[in-house]
This record gives sequence, structure tokens and C-alpha cells, in this order.
Amino acid sequence: MDAQIPEYERYISNLFAPEDAALQLAREEMLRAGMPQISVSASSGKLLHVLARIIGAERILEVGTLGGYSAIWLARALPARGKLISLEIDERYAQVARRNLERAGVVEKVQVRIGPALESLSRLEAEEGQAPFDLIFIDADKDLYVEYLRKAVSLLREGGLVLGDNTLPQAVLDAAADSGTKRYNAEVSARLDLISILVPALRIKGIDGLTISIKQTQRA
Ligand SMILES: C[S@@+](CC[C@H](N)C(=O)[O-])C[C@H]1O[C@@H](n2cnc3c(N)ncnc32)[C@H](O)[C@@H]1O
Repeated sequence: MDAQIPEYERYISNLFAPEDAALQLAREEMLRAGMPQISVSASSGKLLHVLARIIGAERILEVGTLGGYSAIWLARALPARGKLISLEIDERYAQVARRNLERAGVVEKVQVRIGPALESLSRLEAEEGQAPFDLIFIDADKDLYVEYLRKAVSLLREGGLVLGDNTLPQAVLDAAADSGTKRYNAEVSARLDLISILVPALRIKGIDGLTISIKQTQRA
């Protein structure tokens, strides 16, 4: 492992993704609440933000809210009429997230839905008259990534993005031949309705990956 990785990450974050008071407070709140420190890094938050801006996202879906750190980066990419729905299983985490989103000034645009994400996704599929999502960010329990992906693709517009987080070290180094992220990468790379690439991403703790897929009309 390159010992300089944390330094590279700090360089990118300081220059391109400096945290304002709301983002810093969000991290502090999560620490105080004893929550796991597994939010995306500032540079990865900015990457999500830039990707949402590139496609002009107005409707975003997130699977895995935690304390709302990535949700702040994503919600800030939305126009005034934009909407982010974020799915979280833990009621206590969702409460922390709502406070963090409020402080960041984006709570009006964000709806945190509590419950197992697979059930919430099925409910979203069943909701009538819902416009499809422009961007879906998958960042919850890795074992279910493929199931999340399948539902996500059905909820996504053509040309929309589905992003899978933490898809690199585990997929390559995990002794378990069928780790969730390995299956996820295999599925997106094989699907004809997705154009995909795994982008290595620097995190404070080392290197990780974000798998980016665009939904396209299926070709033979
Ligand atoms: C890696 S954290 C999300 C981090 C967040 N996206 C960020 O970067 O700020 C994963 C979250 O998924 C939630 N989670 C785990 N299993 C879930 C499930 N089956 N349904 C919904 N949420 C789940 C966890 O409680 C945790 O808050």
C-alpha cells in the first residue's frame, strides 16, 4: 500500500472539497452519537456532487444514509425543485441525519425513509406516477448490492447513473469468492443495458472504488 495515499486524499480534499461548517458538524455529530466512521470522504462526496451536476440530476435516490454526510453533498447538487430520497434501516441514524441535513440547509429537499432498503425499493417501484430517478447511489450492506442494483436499474431513467460505493479492495482481496461487491462488479460489467467502469478512489484509510454505470438502451 502506498504510504502517501492519506496525503494525496488530503491534498485533493483541501483543494477541491473543503468542508464547510455544516459538513464538519455532521462528522462531529456522528462521532458524538457513537456512529461508525464510514461516511464517504470529502473528495468522494465532491465526486458524487460533480457527477450529479454533470447529468443535471433533479431526482436522486441514496441507499444507506448513515448521518447524512453524502446526502448533503448530493442534495447540494440539486436545483431548487430537486428531490433526494435516502433509505436507512436505523431510526437513530436517520434522526442524526435529519439534524445534519437541516443544519446544511437542504432538509426540504431530502426525505429519509426508514426500513430495510429492499422493502423501501419495492415500495418505490410500486408507487404510481413517480418520475424515474436520474442518479442512484448504493452505499449500504454489501451482500445485497446486486439486489439493490436490479431494483435501482428499474427505477432509473435512460442516461441516468447508478453508483456503487466501496467496490474495490473487497472485490479483489476478499477471500470469499462471492463477496457482494465482486458480484456487483461482475453483474454491471456484463449487463447490456449498462455502460460501466470502476474508478479507484482515495479515502483517508486507503484506496477504495466507485463503480459508475450509465443506463442505456439495450444493444445486441
Ligand atoms: C456506509 S453507511 C452509508 C454512508 C453514507 N452514504 C455516507 O457516505 O455518508 C451504510 C448505511 O447503510 C445502512 N444500512 C445497512 N443495511 C441496510 C439495509 N438493509 N437497509 C437500509 N439501510 C441499511 C447502515 O445502517 C448505514 O447507515
